Amino acid sequence: MTRKAPSWEGQKLAALRERWDRPHVHVYSRIDSTNTLGVELAEENAPAGTIILADEQTAGRGASTRRWHSPKGAGLYLSLIMRPKEVPNPLLVPLLAGLAAARAIDGLVRGAAVGVKWPNDLVVANRKVGGVLSEGSWAGTRPKYIVLGIGVNVHQKATDFPPALRDSAISLDIAAGRTVSRLELADRIIAEVETRCLAPPEMLDREFLRIFDEYDWLRDRRCSVDLGGASPVLGTAAGIAPDGALLFRPDRGALERVTSGHVVADELPTPDF
Ligand code: BTN
Repeated sequence: MTRKAPSWEGQKLAALRERWDRPHVHVYSRIDSTNTLGVELAEENAPAGTIILADEQTAGRGASTRRWHSPKGAGLYLSLIMRPKEVPNPLLVPLLAGLAAARAIDGLVRGAAVGVKWPNDLVVANRKVGGVLSEGSWAGTRPKYIVLGIGVNVHQKATDFPPALRDSAISLDIAAGRTVSRLELADRIIAEVETRCLAPPEMLDREFLRIFDEYDWLRDRRCSVDLGGASPVLGTAAGIAPDGALLFRPDRGALERVTSGHVVADELPTPDF
């Protein structure tokens, strides 16, 4: 059952609206998925910049129909409605948002290595800490809207993760060795995402590629990729191209450009969250 909340992290709704400088902030103590509601609101013409936040999700969704484990009070579960005029290259949207979220996280867990695992995973200390779910609707080549969902594990202890995830998941509290503020994280993520994703380009420029390279967790790692054959192909990640494709060097054969699918890294298999 969906329940509206009068406040989040001790902040009344009016205070959050003022803090983020917009009237369209929706806060729930429990919801199925902030992205599902985000899509519904966007279809009903909710304006760009609408924020949906929840303290708990009962049917949190990850990319590729995976689920996103969203226990009460433990994580940041945030969706943002965007209405960019053009999205010339949809593949770039999760990358831009992922890099924005990684930079936001980096400011909070100084000293712990923060990375983006192509195309949509957020990694800290070689474990998955969060992810981006980008869902859009197009009228021809023009975007009607994009709902960017960002989930970050914040307060979980190691034993709070389901046993199957314990070796591959981490929270910001664990990484930082202190209690990280979800409010401060939300502040930083909203600011970074809105700076980077308001007008997504067709191609990444040199500056972005340089910054992405610093956060590119997959780079030079052993991984397997589904290239459409009978079984995944083993090889090594080799960075990203300006159009957002993952560059992948199979153990046998020439460099490949990967534009969709899930990459399983030897060091970080990412099962359902
Ligand atoms: C992934 O890693 O596959 C993406 C996870 C995205 C989870 C967030 S939590 C807020 C928003 N609502 C959802 O149901 N999913 C996204």
